[in-house]
Amino acid sequence: EIDAKVSELLSKMTLEEKVGQMTQITVTIFEDSKKPGYFDPAKLKQGIQDYHIGSILNVPNPGAPTIQRWQETLTAIANETNKTRLKIPILYGIDAIHGASYTAGATLFPQQIGLAATFNTDLVKRGAEISAYETRASSIPWVFSPDLDFPRNPAWSRMWESFGEDAYLSSKMAVALVDGFEGNNVGSKYSVASCMKHYIGYGSTYTGKDRTPSIIPERLLRQYDLTIYEAAIKAGAKSVMVSSGEINGTPVHASKHLITDILKNELGFSGVVVTDWKDIIYLHTRHKIAETKRDAVRIAIMAGIDMSMVPEEFSFYTDLVDLVKKGEVPMSRIDDAVTRILRMKFELNLFQNTVANLKDYPKFGSPEHIQEAYKTAVESITLLKNNNAVLPLNKNEKILVTGATANSMKYLNGGWSYTWQGEKSDTYAADKFTILEAFQNKIGKENVLYTPGADLEIENEAEIQKAVDLAKNASKILLCLGEKNYTETPGDISNLFMSSSQIKLALALSKLNKPIILVLNEGRPRLISDFEDKMNAVIQCYLPGNEGARALVDIIYGDINPSGRLPYNYPRYPNSLEKYNRKYTESISEGEQNDDAKYEKSYLPQYEFGTGLSYTSFKYSNLKMDKTEINSNDEINVSVEVTNSGKKAGKESVLLYLSDNFASITPEFKSLKRFEKISLEPNETKTVKFTLNQKDLQFVNEDLKWISEKGTFTIQVSNLKKDFALK
Ligand code: IFM
Repeated sequence: EIDAKVSELLSKMTLEEKVGQMTQITVTIFEDSKKPGYFDPAKLKQGIQDYHIGSILNVPNPGAPTIQRWQETLTAIANETNKTRLKIPILYGIDAIHGASYTAGATLFPQQIGLAATFNTDLVKRGAEISAYETRASSIPWVFSPDLDFPRNPAWSRMWESFGEDAYLSSKMAVALVDGFEGNNVGSKYSVASCMKHYIGYGSTYTGKDRTPSIIPERLLRQYDLTIYEAAIKAGAKSVMVSSGEINGTPVHASKHLITDILKNELGFSGVVVTDWKDIIYLHTRHKIAETKRDAVRIAIMAGIDMSMVPEEFSFYTDLVDLVKKGEVPMSRIDDAVTRILRMKFELNLFQNTVANLKDYPKFGSPEHIQEAYKTAVESITLLKNNNAVLPLNKNEKILVTGATANSMKYLNGGWSYTWQGEKSDTYAADKFTILEAFQNKIGKENVLYTPGADLEIENEAEIQKAVDLAKNASKILLCLGEKNYTETPGDISNLFMSSSQIKLALALSKLNKPIILVLNEGRPRLISDFEDKMNAVIQCYLPGNEGARALVDIIYGDINPSGRLPYNYPRYPNSLEKYNRKYTESISEGEQNDDAKYEKSYLPQYEFGTGLSYTSFKYSNLKMDKTEINSNDEINVSVEVTNSGKKAGKESVLLYLSDNFASITPEFKSLKRFEKISLEPNETKTVKFTLNQKDLQFVNEDLKWISEKGTFTIQVSNLKKDFALK
């Protein structure tokens, strides 16, 4: 039915109207220069009537409108489109990546890296449903999320926007987000279209800096990166944003092979392919593969781009109309792009429902939604170290809270929160609690001493001395270290170590011989090996969102048992960035190949992927398989018993790894194949069951085909192992 409507509408459209649909403009272009945040009606009219634009993105100044202001904005746009010949609604897209993070008063969840650490897909899906609800309440039907990047260098400034270093975990989380955003019917007033980004290889720059080149053999692209997209496409993801980077010398925006041949034809993706910011023009000005802007448009459209995000002024429109008129871009390519865009507009029900009715959204920012964000933050926070059970703390002790990240919401939310770089979290989330405030609420102001102790970047001996002096009056120290708020290129770093101003504070405090609990508020693993051995406990918060401090404090005082697990290897040294699923030859010297004991010694991340302590203990037993030999196409059923052998109720993510013992392409040491999070009361035992299939045994060979080879495989769950053979 939708296809028929699309064809009918398409048949009525002029070339100019079609090209307009392929144009996405930033909302700020329509702003009244004298009245920021409000439209200049003449500019809006020009964009919509003269250039027929089909899509708008971004936030009016000064950032994060209220839900009512969004309604006004979207109403003004809808009124203008209703005056056009065909009345095609505008598709509004937004970077709502951890809740409706561009709407004041919305519920903000942990950022994606924290979602991965929950290992709880139900919780993640529920969070996406809430994000969808609150984004649609703002009348916006399209979010630029999830991020399916597969970071190969932990220094990358958008590491925290990914699900970490494992492709299987990323796929499962991607599906949870897409399901939550889009629901059973993306046209419902509580669902939004998702946008997988940034297709593909974006997170893998070899410098670790944003938008610099990547080198990724296609075999690896298929083995890892593409599997995440495949899963999200199967889940129904409606759109995809293209990577601003290049792979092996070809900017992805110019790659017909990656966009048309693989994404659209091989994976059967039928949704909209949108560029990233100004990326068509950048083929000319930055990548230097197009001699003119006009040629850049031709190359990108012929590669398979359907919508151009932020063409400079309207040159994309005029160039593309001209290219079609002169026969350099065929009309069939335009029709393919516009069909995809119109289909998405029909699926989203935009023709019926352009502006939401606020009465339909009573739960926007409600206690019920906030409680879900809190629960997600609780399950993301990861206890990495707890020597001599220093945690949980006793509520009667006086503590010093110090560190540059202790008293600002910016370091809990990070980028894409209210504004691009997230610098206004303290204004917009003034009613939320920083870590310091959450401590004061929990144990009373009289029990909490505070001084920042260090700036994030600037060294200040006097500040450090203040913290040292205050610490003398406390029995324990809570040291909050981390990073400034950032995303994209402004987040680039040249040194993965924690900043020296913060290292100095940690070392100075450690000389007092008082227990120190290190709390990390960071988007990527900043190296802490200079002082980690002097910390009694370490808690990774990632970027836990507006409810993060409450969650952290409840964990620190034992009201909640931690259950997050690290979704990446936390490196110890800047030149040892091995992944957990490393090859056998990584960090092993010649002659040690058969000596697992020595091998394990030479592989020394600070904390390994999957690390996550609890206040109780879990015992694994009875790892069983229903077969020890299988034929191709057989499934294998695995079960394991998990017992809470400690004294506190707790949640445990049970992870199943598989190793292919010998293969014609060097096998990985182990790779995650299944996980399930369970809750256990003290002394309770649960049996966890997993089924592995042939795909789990496969890898991509030199001919770029997924194959399995006969031989033995080892299943590992916790410290239990079992072998089986593929005949
Ligand atoms: O969605 C983002 C993308 O992740 C980075 N560049 C800008 C886009 C739109 O804001």
